[in-house]
Amino acid sequence: MAKKSGNTIHLAIIGCGGMAGAHLNGYEEPVRSSETRFRIVAAVDEATDRAEGFARRLQANLGWQVATFKSVDQLLNSGLRVDGADICSPHGLHHVLSCQLLDAGINVLCEKPIGVTVKASKKIAATAKKRGLVAATAEQCRRAIGQRTIHWAFHDGDLLGTPKMWWAIKAGWQDPTHVGAWHWRVDRKLGGCGMVMDSGAHWVDTMRYWFGEIDSVYSRVEQIFDRKLQKGERQVKSAQEDFWTAIFNFKSGLIGTWSWTISAPGKGFTQLTMSGTRGSIVDSDIFHPAAFQANGECQMLDGTTYNMPKLQSMFLESLSPRRREELFPYGITGGVTLELWDFIDALSKSRPVEIDVEEGLRSKAVSEAIYESSLSGQVVKVADVLSGKVNAWQRDVDRMWKL
Ligand SMILES: NC(=O)c1ccc[n+]([C@@H]2O[C@H](COP(=O)([O-])OP(=O)(O)OC[C@H]3O[C@@H](n4cnc5c(N)ncnc54)[C@H](O)[C@@H]3O)[C@@H](O)[C@H]2O)c1
Repeated sequence: MAKKSGNTIHLAIIGCGGMAGAHLNGYEEPVRSSETRFRIVAAVDEATDRAEGFARRLQANLGWQVATFKSVDQLLNSGLRVDGADICSPHGLHHVLSCQLLDAGINVLCEKPIGVTVKASKKIAATAKKRGLVAATAEQCRRAIGQRTIHWAFHDGDLLGTPKMWWAIKAGWQDPTHVGAWHWRVDRKLGGCGMVMDSGAHWVDTMRYWFGEIDSVYSRVEQIFDRKLQKGERQVKSAQEDFWTAIFNFKSGLIGTWSWTISAPGKGFTQLTMSGTRGSIVDSDIFHPAAFQANGECQMLDGTTYNMPKLQSMFLESLSPRRREELFPYGITGGVTLELWDFIDALSKSRPVEIDVEEGLRSKAVSEAIYESSLSGQVVKVADVLSGKVNAWQRDVDRMWKL
């Protein structure tokens, strides 16, 4: 494998929890493939044991010396050279930490959803623009071989005809009388809230990647049952929805129907079908289809079927060696590793990233349009949510963060 050219990038990981652990796996993969253009030099977490655990792991696995800090303030005051920061914090802190780092001259890669609201996301975009730095959205699904393949099947591969409609439905049961441990995700200020905008960030990015821009949505988002969590001595109410159903009207005329609940007792079911004029793809994950698994199937009008591994090999055979190396450097086909590598390669070569803050913001606006439509009972134009004209559902969170 030819050595890739460019500057060596010094990275800091901000927030060393669950997803940051997956990022560490992702950083180790290209290093094992002889990628030498980056080093992780700092790990920051208010829980110092987590940052120290990351530092020990990186020392043991890659031989890197990693400094640990309790806060971004401490990192910035340390004088350590940092070119890029990988932010894996609770949603409500995405804009706070991103803007603090950008203002200090550090490029950022921020986990999805880019900001906790549209206003928060715009603050990150404006700060990056003012500083002339990269703000990337850490969105992995579309980069994985499975999603690239489905994009090809609907477009360049000309297999499925014109995309016309999709249904994505999952119904299941989580006992509302069960009181779990409190987590930032169920908090309106820190979480934002609910799977419409959390895993929904992946879903919306995927749908926009495959099928283009969404013009408007109509939805119902509900808490069918009161759900409580234990926070210290107190029980607090979850702010998250446990049901939604939404219709997406795409600019192309394509219609999507997305429904999910954990409030349907009895036998659950999941169905995802995406149809073009000549065939359909079926899968079973309505948040990250084909991003982590190759379970789906392509079914054509004439009765021909292709399983996902077969479809993936047809896609790979269609690529020139150069395009293959662009999409899957070092033969890496997992989305998280590719998202991290895109950030490193972009900083190293001073090129744009694939999914910047503006692209993350366009997906964010669709998720928020679902909540806004449910609150108003009206069909909501995504452009009105993006412009800020429609923001009633987000206003309390914006106020909490003084946005
Ligand atoms: N891309 C994916 O597939 C995926 C999957 C899971 C989570 N995520 C995203 O990753 C982010 C983090 O989620 P998680 O599940 O890892 O949460 P987590 O609770 O496991 O980790 C968050 C970490 O941030 C730390 N933290 C909190 N405030 C901090 C501060 N001010 N400075 C530094 N560190 C701070 C916490 O101590 C914790 O260790 C979220 O944006 C989430 O949506 C993405």
